[in-house]
Parts: sequence; structure tokens; C-alpha cells
Amino acid sequence: MSEFVLRAVGLEKAFSQGPDSVTVLTGVELSVARGERVAVIGRSGSGKSTLLHLLGGLDEPDAGEVWVGSESITAASPAQRAMLRNRHMGFVYQLHHLLPEFSALENVAMPLRLGGVSSKAASEQAREMLAAVGLEPRLRHRPAALSGGERQRVAVARALVGNPLVVLADEPTGNLDSDNARSVFDLMCRLSDERGISFVIVTHDDSMLDSMHRVVSLVDGKIR
Ligand SMILES: Nc1ncnc2c1ncn2[C@@H]1O[C@H](COP(=O)(O)OP(=O)(O)OP(=O)(O)O)[C@@H](O)[C@H]1O
Ligand SMILES: [Mg+2]
Repeated sequence: MSEFVLRAVGLEKAFSQGPDSVTVLTGVELSVARGERVAVIGRSGSGKSTLLHLLGGLDEPDAGEVWVGSESITAASPAQRAMLRNRHMGFVYQLHHLLPEFSALENVAMPLRLGGVSSKAASEQAREMLAAVGLEPRLRHRPAALSGGERQRVAVARALVGNPLVVLADEPTGNLDSDNARSVFDLMCRLSDERGISFVIVTHDDSMLDSMHRVVSLVDGKIR
């Protein structure tokens, strides 16, 4: 596990609100190896979501740089950044963010279609991914017709479908009861092991931490 799939160097981020400026990150260093699962913990407001946004190229740091594989997402143009995100990264949020008008199969196929994969191949890969999360009998269901745990499993399937280098997950089980949370978490760990996909997971749930390879804490804008 010496090859880094994700690397952040010297990340700084502040937000201005009118005359006030809130300094959130003050020099974050983080390197994630292939297949490694890293938990990010820290009190509310410590900057965990902000860090994940920067790692995923959803927001820009004031200083510092993020690399995905061998490519800088910070230096990339908006179009290149979208391509890097689509090709190398998966995202899971606390709320599933599935598209309500589309079936589970279509939701999971979506990132592949956006990446230029043909409709037939995307459907086939989406079906295989949904089978891997135990949802083959739910391919045609829309999100509203799925349980909370099932929706989150679809979201996990969508994050993993293109075999990304790394999945960024912000409290992915935060909206589930403890049994469902455990099963979604175990699912992510199993797929991470089977496919060698790295995870950076923000979680408040201490019971998940022993399944992680490393736990880092955000304190005063830095990783401890
Ligand atoms: N777009 C924004 N504009 C202004 N301030 C922001 C913005 N986003 C975040 N902040 C501020 O940055 C700080 C860190 O927020 P962030 O959402 O990263 O915390 P967090 O660690 O994810 O907290 P939680 O555990 O509650 O989700 C907070 O004080 C927040 O008010
Ligand atoms: Mg947060």
C-alpha cells in the first residue's frame, strides 16, 4: 500500500461572512494509500465536510493542493476536474441524493453514462454493482419505493460503479438506524477490500472505527 491515490498538501480554507472571516483549515496534510480506509473525526464545525469538499474538488482551497492519483485536481480546469471526479472518485453523502425520477438501475448507471459509457454497458455494470450490494430484486424501484437502508446501498453502488480510486463519504450512515448503519458500513468495507478501493469516511459513530485502517482527527484546522 505504498502508492497514494489521494494526497492533500498544505490545505488552507477560510470562509468570509460579511466582515467576519472564519478560518476552518490551516494546513491539512493527508495521504491515502491504495485500498486504505481512513476515518476523519472531529467535533461539529471542525471542518470535516469542508475538507471532503476540497478533497473532492467541489470547492477550492485558499492554499495548498490536492492530487488524485498522479493528477492535481487543484490545478485542473473545471472540465478536467469534472473528468477526474467522474473517473477516479465516488461520493456518498448522509442523504442519498439519488434522482427521484430514475430507477435504482438508472441512478447507478448515471455516472457511467456521464463518463461516456454506452447505455447497454452502463446498465450491465450498474446491474452487477446493484447485485453486489444485494439489490438485484430492486433494479426498477425508484428511490421513494426503497427503504432508507436500501437507498443508501444504491448510493454506495453509484459511488463504486466505475471502480474509482477513492470514495469520499460524509457521514454515510448518519441517517440510518444502528442495524442499517452497520450493514451499509460493512458493505462499504467489503467492497473496499474486494476491489482495492480507498475510502475517506467522516463519521460520528465510534463503533465503525475499528473497521478502518487509520483514524485521523481534525483539531484547530489541522490533522492530528
Ligand atoms: N459555505 C460556507 N460559508 C461560510 N462558512 C462556512 C461554509 N461552509 C462551512 N462554513 C463554516 O466552516 C466551519 C466548518 O464547517 P464544516 O461543515 O466543514 O464542519 P463539520 O466538521 O463537517 O461539522 P459537522 O460535524 O457538524 O458536520 C463551520 O464553522 C461553518 O460555519
Ligand atoms: Mg459535516
